[in-house]
Amino acid sequence: MELTQEFSIRPATQSRIQEVDFNHLEFGKYVADHMLVCDYANGTWETPQIIPFGNLSLSPTSLALHYGQTVFEGMKAFRMVDGRINIFRIHKHYERLTRSLDRMCMAIVPEEVFIEGLRQLVALDSKWVPAAPGTALYIRPFAYASEAKFGVKVSDEYKFVIFSGPVAGAFQKPLRVKVETSYVRAARGGTGAAKCGGNYGGAYYPTQKAKEAGFDQVLWTDGRENKYIEESGMMNALFVIDGVLVTPPLSDSILDGVTRDSLLTLAGDLDIPVETRPVSIEDLEKAFRQHTITEAFGAGTAAIVAPIGTIHINGIDYHLPDYTPGAIMYRLKDKLEAMRTGKEEDIHHWNYVF
Ligand code: COI
Repeated sequence: MELTQEFSIRPATQSRIQEVDFNHLEFGKYVADHMLVCDYANGTWETPQIIPFGNLSLSPTSLALHYGQTVFEGMKAFRMVDGRINIFRIHKHYERLTRSLDRMCMAIVPEEVFIEGLRQLVALDSKWVPAAPGTALYIRPFAYASEAKFGVKVSDEYKFVIFSGPVAGAFQKPLRVKVETSYVRAARGGTGAAKCGGNYGGAYYPTQKAKEAGFDQVLWTDGRENKYIEESGMMNALFVIDGVLVTPPLSDSILDGVTRDSLLTLAGDLDIPVETRPVSIEDLEKAFRQHTITEAFGAGTAAIVAPIGTIHINGIDYHLPDYTPGAIMYRLKDKLEAMRTGKEEDIHHWNYVF
């Protein structure tokens, strides 16, 4: 990419990295030294600034706080075996961000601000990219409506921000999940395919109810008939039935997960049959009765894969067999890790290395 965008960089005078316990990384706990901020006003994006991580100042009337125009991405940078850094699937994340922004009537962040901004930010905080197996620098780009005006309107001003922090893999214990048929995460024609804050805030109440009843998460069903599985908690849902990796097709109520897409592609590379088709509650019940379902898991950037041990359907707990390291989900996860850390060739051109 030819660089036409200028960036303003003000490095931190002191790093906070010595406060980090790299042996006990907890998702969301540590934040790297710098962040990128870029404002949109009067129809243009201003010069992006890379500055020390710190609080943002915003008016109580900022539109995002009232009407929810806010979207985010979740992505990861990896330390490769040769010491270089790889931001994984940067272009796919950019495309999804633009779709989310578009769905929420927000100004589109220029590609150069996103790609070059990420490169410069992560390069400046390069010592924050951990190297231990399973670790990564989690990157959180987000944008919100910053116009200070509480009238109900599409904002004319936005702030785009990127910060990051080192993380380890999470949610490894097999979960007990409940098929949710009273509440829905996303309706047909709604915002389910956008990575907007409201989708997550709206999911809290049913998830809290499920947790109070002893479950770890919910398996969301469709908003029309509550018959088809859509997502697993905050992740895409995948199953292995009859040796086939099965996942619901993308729709306007399912997020186009980058990990989902990557795992489906890698399954093809490993000659694991893949089917993208609707998965009904009845399909699951039948597969449990016939013992043909061998795996169920969530897939997302943060946890990569989250194994499901028990699925609760209409009052009955159905148990998955214990997972061994040879389970398809773990083979796919290992393959993904190998490819993005440079142990295996990046045949799909997913890595953005510097
Ligand atoms: C991710 O898996 O990265 C997500 O975006 C889910 C998140 C809210 C942690």
